[in-house]
Amino acid sequence: MPDAEGLKEAKQFYTDVPQKTEGFFLKGSNAYDWGMKNRLARIFNPETGRTVMLAFDHGYFQGPTTGLERIDISIMPLVPYADTLMLTRGILRTIIPPSVTKPIVVRASGGSSILKELSNEEIAVDIEDAIRLNVCAMAVQVFIGGEFEKQSIINMTRMVDLGTRYGIPTLAVTAVGKQMARDARYFRLATRICAELGAHYIKTYYVEDGFETVTAACPVPIVIAGGKKIPELDALKMAYNAVQQGASGVDMGRNIFQSEAPVAMIQAVRAVVHENETPEKAYELYQTLKNEMGK
Ligand code: 5RP
Repeated sequence: MPDAEGLKEAKQFYTDVPQKTEGFFLKGSNAYDWGMKNRLARIFNPETGRTVMLAFDHGYFQGPTTGLERIDISIMPLVPYADTLMLTRGILRTIIPPSVTKPIVVRASGGSSILKELSNEEIAVDIEDAIRLNVCAMAVQVFIGGEFEKQSIINMTRMVDLGTRYGIPTLAVTAVGKQMARDARYFRLATRICAELGAHYIKTYYVEDGFETVTAACPVPIVIAGGKKIPELDALKMAYNAVQQGASGVDMGRNIFQSEAPVAMIQAVRAVVHENETPEKAYELYQTLKNEMGK
């Protein structure tokens, strides 16, 4: 019990100073509840409004992907440079020490493999387990135009409903079928559908032509996946163009962990995303760091 006697009387209420009411920094996110915003503010840097998510969830449908054969060896050195980690709960529990305090985006859909139709997914993580794992968002694949389009959309809306109950955002991941054109028109359609149906942010692919129309037409933040491994300078150009054209960061996997020098590459990506560094300057940084590390 605090001592009730001898209390200091002079109280300062600053009656002439109005209490500040801050807007929330992230696109389209001002109307959410405190916990949802707090999780988003851990994923996206409030200073830059952007994020470097490191994606290494590929094993959930394609097994031990090149560069992810031993996540303890290849990914752990990258963790200090990532803003957010995107992975499966299996890898989280088995490889990532609980002392790692980076925000976690857990892969929450699954049920198909590269041997079968990929769009045939269900929700594959219970919301209670996501809470137990203290995740900052749940990622669900959405296959617009795919064979199981409706099922994948409903997976996402179910996740949005469950997550909203507990203040956990849903990341909709737009997956493009082999037969579909990867163009701005398709990504406007896919990202807008996900946002209209409640996704809190969306992962999509960068396209050379008209990417700014994809970000403009989407009322929530967009992050880009890196896609297949390309030369480092090209990957940095892609990340640069994406953020300059309205993306709120990257959710990059193979172009980091399959790089010749992954620790150097993730730092170069950070420079592009958070410091608006040009791809050429970021590539110089990549080479300097790579040489310093002797690889
Ligand atoms: C797998 C994913 C990956 O997280 C996503 O594709 C990002 O990784 P990459 O940069 O290697 O494309 O969603 O389905």
